[in-house]
Amino acid sequence: MDKLIIFDTTLRDGEQSPGASMTKEEKLRIAKALERMKVDVIEAGFPAASPGDFDAVQTVAEAIRDSTICGLARALDRDIDRAGEALQKAARGRIHTFIATSPIHMQHKLRMAPDQVVEHAVKAVKRARQWTDDVEFSAEDAGRSDPEFLCRIFEAVIDAGARTINIPDTVGYNMPHQFGELVRKVITGTPNSDKAIFSVHCHNDLGLAVANSLSAVLNGARQVECTINGLGERAGNAALEEIVMAVRTRKDVFPCRVDIDTTHIVPSSRLVAGITGFAVQPNKAIVGANAFAHESGIHQDGVLKSRETYEIMRAEDVGWSANRMVLGKHSGRNAFRTRLQELGVVFADDEALNAAFERFKELADKKHEIYDEDLQALVTETNLESTYEGIKLLALKVCSQTGTTPEASVTLSVDGVEHTGTAPGGGPVDAALKAIDSIIHSDSELVLYSVNAITSGTDSQGEVTVRLEKGGRMVNGQGADTDIVIASAKAYVNALNRLLAPARAHPQNGGV
Ligand code: KIV
Ligand code: ZN
Repeated sequence: MDKLIIFDTTLRDGEQSPGASMTKEEKLRIAKALERMKVDVIEAGFPAASPGDFDAVQTVAEAIRDSTICGLARALDRDIDRAGEALQKAARGRIHTFIATSPIHMQHKLRMAPDQVVEHAVKAVKRARQWTDDVEFSAEDAGRSDPEFLCRIFEAVIDAGARTINIPDTVGYNMPHQFGELVRKVITGTPNSDKAIFSVHCHNDLGLAVANSLSAVLNGARQVECTINGLGERAGNAALEEIVMAVRTRKDVFPCRVDIDTTHIVPSSRLVAGITGFAVQPNKAIVGANAFAHESGIHQDGVLKSRETYEIMRAEDVGWSANRMVLGKHSGRNAFRTRLQELGVVFADDEALNAAFERFKELADKKHEIYDEDLQALVTETNLESTYEGIKLLALKVCSQTGTTPEASVTLSVDGVEHTGTAPGGGPVDAALKAIDSIIHSDSELVLYSVNAITSGTDSQGEVTVRLEKGGRMVNGQGADTDIVIASAKAYVNALNRLLAPARAHPQNGGV
């Protein structure tokens, strides 16, 4: 049976979701989770975007041994060379270069004639081949491109050495039957198509990314580009968990197999949601909290008698039972370090390990059972990994009682200098955030505030996500604590640190 290559782009297209930017260490943790899941290709980023992106791709390329690591590059010498350099230490490195092929993009974005686009594409692929044999070429906006032009450019780039040809529905415009037809037409119409693997990359603007990708698989695609939880530009990409489970569950329909260890799906989904702050809706397929919950009495009765009456997959096969107690109050530093290493967290030095271990002990005093999710949140919120950490929360006092206006007093360290601010608020959280604002004056707008319990029980940590917007730039911040007011203040400070860090380039902005 053919293999369907699973190409995960959570760290690249997923990171392009407004507010979902990740630090190098966060990317490394997600990459390790993807490697454990046996993802075939991990697109780790766009190295030419910024020195930080370059560093992140390089770090992932060095640390991951089992999956191919891919770097995105526009069809520009500089981008390709940056990707090649970032991937030098990879066990298997892939350069993914792209240029737009639809009339609307060629005319308005690139301002190039089709012949020039073909010329650029061929030159880019040849240059990428000087770095690696594993070169992927994408025709951006292929979903709205002329199929004949696609065949022409694909023939030329395969001759130039591309081994994977990607057909993106960049703007999520296609219907499943149309997209399947396009893929079939292009594979049969490209004379040297047998020398490449055909791939698809679908966006979810009409909610059809997974359906379009699966239709492409039925029509000859043997690589699908997808992301955990469907994260990605605008409405997102095809969700990895849905693609994988559809192909695995409907072996009677799909003429191919996936080599993914599906028991890592739910833990990876939680990791990505925790790091990015993009919570998973409860009714989301496979990874939503209700995906395997039966509310109706008839359903419950049926499942108790025979699971197959209402369940087409087993919850444990996608990792729902992976939620287990891992550490407690009496666990030592070694057990703590080992478990975090298994989760992909590597401490820069002993000082960082000791700081995290202190936080763990404080948490274990308040909460007896510490789960993987608690550890992930602890590492995220400990802020060991933030690139800019000029603002630190030193102390917070909040007064809240019936009949009075809540008031908060906060002490921050800003670039090493201590400041204290106080403010009243509509509630204790509002007062705490206003007190922080009275010191920082960020001029940003709070566009999202959400609280989730990380595990069950009233002693669970609350995980708070805030999203700030300033001048069109969006950032998320997370904080976790058994006290949700403190978690909120931590999340706010985390977001402010990200807001003040330097901005990065976007791969699909501007022309080549
Ligand atoms: O959506 C898209 O076209 C992309 C390409 C860079 C593959 O993300
Ligand atoms: Zn995309």
